[in-house]
Amino acid sequence: MKWTPDKIKSLKNKDKWIALTAYDSITAKWSDDEAVPLILVGDSLGMTALGYDSTLPVTMDDMLHHTKAVTRSVDKALVVADMPFMSYQSSVEDGIRNAGLFIKDGNADAVKIEGGIFRSQLIESLVNNGIPVLGHIGLTPQSIKQIGGYKVQGKTDLDHQKIINDALAVEESGAFAVVLECIPKKLSKKISDIISIPTIGIGAGPDCDAQIIVISDLLGFTNKSLPKFAKYYVDICSLSRSAIQRFKNDVLNNDFPNDEQSY
Ligand code: KIV
Repeated sequence: MKWTPDKIKSLKNKDKWIALTAYDSITAKWSDDEAVPLILVGDSLGMTALGYDSTLPVTMDDMLHHTKAVTRSVDKALVVADMPFMSYQSSVEDGIRNAGLFIKDGNADAVKIEGGIFRSQLIESLVNNGIPVLGHIGLTPQSIKQIGGYKVQGKTDLDHQKIINDALAVEESGAFAVVLECIPKKLSKKISDIISIPTIGIGAGPDCDAQIIVISDLLGFTNKSLPKFAKYYVDICSLSRSAIQRFKNDVLNNDFPNDEQSY
C-alpha cells in the first residue's frame, strides 16, 4: 500500500507512528521496508551529509539530487521533499515553481514548508495546485538568523499563542500534517488536541501524533553531539571507525586481501 496524504491524515487519534528523514537510497529503503509511513528528505541534509553548519546554504539542486535518490528506492512511504531556504520565501510563484520541480523531477509525493500564518497563502496555493504540503512550525531552522539560535520556542504567553495560531493557520490552509519542532510538551499537547491533522514532533514531547527523528541522529552517523531531543539507537560512528582501523590493520598485516578475496 502506498501512503497518501489522506491516509496520513486518517492516522489522527489512532496509534502513534513514526517518520524518519532520509538523504540516500539505502537508508530510505531500510525505512520503507520497516513500514515507516512518511520519509522526509530534510534540508538537514546540509548538516548530515554536505558539511554545512546550518540548513541555509542548501540549494534546490542539492535537494533535488537527494530527493531523486530517495524516491528511486521507496515504494510505500509518502516521500516529502523539504523546500530549501529561498526556494519559496521570495514569492508564492517561486514557491509553486520550485515545489513543482520536486513533484515532476524529484518524484516526491509532497513538500514541506516552514512557517505558519505568514505562509498560509503559499500553502493554500500549493494545495489548490495539487501539491500536498506538510507544515513546519515552532523552531523553524531557516529563520535561525532572525531567531538568534536553536532555542525552544513558545515559552512566553505571547509566543505560545502565536504558535497555536500558526498551527490553526497551517491546518486551515490545507496542509495534511504539521511538524512541531522544539516547543514545550504542554504546548504540543494542546495543539495536538485542537487541530484535526496529525502533529509530528521533534523536540516537542510525547503527546504528538507521531515522532520524527533525523536518521543520522538515530544511527549515530554523525561527528557531532546530538541535540537534547535526539537519541541514537546504534553507534554507527564508533562501529565505522573501528571497521576502518581493522581494515587498515589487516592490510598492514597482509591479512587483506587473502585467498578468499583474491582471484
Ligand atoms: O530538515 C529536517 O530534517 C527537518 C526535520 C527536523 C523535521 O525539518
